[in-house]
Amino acid sequence: MIQELNNQFAISSHVRFEKGQGGLPKAVLHASSGNFCEVYLHGAHVTSWRDAAGAENLFMSEKSEFGEGLAFRGGIPICFPQFADQGDLPKHGLIRDRAWKVLKTSITPNEGSVSIEFDYRPDKMLKKLWPHLFECRYLVELNENLTVTLTVSNRGNAPFRFQTALHTYFSIQDIRRVKILGLQGLDFTDSLKGGKVFTETREAVDVSEETDRIYKNIPSRLCVLDDAAGKIFQLTPLGLADAVVWNPWIDKARRMVDFGDDEYLRMICLETANIHTRVQIAADERWMGKTVFTVQSA
Ligand code: BG6
Repeated sequence: MIQELNNQFAISSHVRFEKGQGGLPKAVLHASSGNFCEVYLHGAHVTSWRDAAGAENLFMSEKSEFGEGLAFRGGIPICFPQFADQGDLPKHGLIRDRAWKVLKTSITPNEGSVSIEFDYRPDKMLKKLWPHLFECRYLVELNENLTVTLTVSNRGNAPFRFQTALHTYFSIQDIRRVKILGLQGLDFTDSLKGGKVFTETREAVDVSEETDRIYKNIPSRLCVLDDAAGKIFQLTPLGLADAVVWNPWIDKARRMVDFGDDEYLRMICLETANIHTRVQIAADERWMGKTVFTVQSA
């Protein structure tokens, strides 16, 4: 399979395919800027995004499991068509642990971009769980920034509704010195308090306990300031109205089998999403949501 993928989609010094963890195939992308990223066909899951100096921007747990039907712990899982356990489907939906197909790879030399596009269509087993005919496409573009774009098409005759999240795990040096900017004044539901609604009053949101919140109506820019590393991650979402802030903290970290006891110190999830208001798409229509990630020195 790796050979076949390379024959069809490799681009000299920019895209190649390798056997990744658990023997699963992954695409390795190099942009002209020296930026690097890795995407598994499993879940179209971005597991690594590094700058030219080799600094990793995404967190992956050392205890993550890798294999058919398993969700990786870290990177950017795609939640669809359900977020968390807000419905009858498996947690975070159906496609984060399924094999996607590679549609195409390309480079845009002028912009120094390299990209890969994936496609997912439901098989018989999935149709039993969720009867709607859909197609997901996921475009991963790397240049100075990382941009991910999810497109959902309704291939059936009736409208359907879904939730989605780009469940991004950022790699940070010390959660005790992290601040999230851009949330002040927003209403959020606190999943640890039965979904009760609160309003964020802080300009800079820090995390000092287990946190699991869904903020509504996010602005066009959110930032994660990692003071200890001297880094700022910036997220520019489009078509995604909500943002989840999640850190399991000490006790939950201990309960999670695929997460190290101390790893809560080195990660923060800031997920761009549509959760509070489900997206509805009519027959033959298409929805698109994307997020541009940039990283700068603080
Ligand atoms: C977050 C949810 O998005 O994902 C949390 O808000 C959840 O409630 C977390 O615990 C991790 O989910 P999972 O299924 O990957 O363990």
